Amino acid sequence: MSNNLHNTFNSKSLKLWDSSEQASIYVANQIAELISEHRKQGKSVVLGLATGNTPKKVYQELVRLHQNESLSFANVISFNLDEYYPIFPDNDMSYTYFMQKYLFGHVDIDPSNIHIPHVDSNVEDIEEYCKAYEDKISSLGGLDLQLLGIGRNGHIGFNEPGSSFSSTTRLVDLHPVTRADAESDFGSLEKVPQQAISMGVHTIVQAKRILLLALGERKSEIISKALRGEITTEIPASILQTLPQVEYVLDNEAASLIK
Ligand code: GLP
Repeated sequence: MSNNLHNTFNSKSLKLWDSSEQASIYVANQIAELISEHRKQGKSVVLGLATGNTPKKVYQELVRLHQNESLSFANVISFNLDEYYPIFPDNDMSYTYFMQKYLFGHVDIDPSNIHIPHVDSNVEDIEEYCKAYEDKISSLGGLDLQLLGIGRNGHIGFNEPGSSFSSTTRLVDLHPVTRADAESDFGSLEKVPQQAISMGVHTIVQAKRILLLALGERKSEIISKALRGEITTEIPASILQTLPQVEYVLDNEAASLIK
């Protein structure tokens, strides 16, 4: 642990909910309020979005708010955290497909405002592509809000154990725990890509507001380590302890070891 990292974790950063549904609806409402506030001020809002099972209900609620309560995404500019590499965008395991299926396909976001770090054969220089992804976020004034899940090994985005806290968007190797967790979705371990493009830890921590959502008993152990344990690159999510703009939104099961 570095000496100049201070733990700003306090009970105000914790939002505990009895059910995964309540936790997800809280997160959806926070996002919806931010979108609406910016809209009222005639401003766009830059959202960092996540994939995985955890945010599905959040997106479902945002779609409901769009369809039934006139929440507009016309002022939203989105940047997804990560994408497998290599993968075709029309592969139903790609995050491009996921985002279309659960959110973008059902709301009025301008397709040109959607950014997913997808690298295909048209991209000759991955490093240059990743730098352009970072530059685009910065040129828009940074992420207003970043939604995060957490991997069972403490990853955020695909920043696996060992990722530098100063890392930016780049090509990464997936950790065995991450690949094993994705096995059932892909059908077999061999089909799970070995690599991904991910925003870096540094990219994430610069967001003006960060909501980390963790649901279910299977996240309880890593939540306890990430929130109460040592701040170490071995558990990338532990860096969040040092940030005042982080809220941990947990259901009872995910919070069971920190109560
Ligand atoms: C995935 C994503 C992460 C996500 C995490 C947890 O691999 N790259 O952004 O937060 O793993 O996934 P889940 O929500 O399905 O548990």
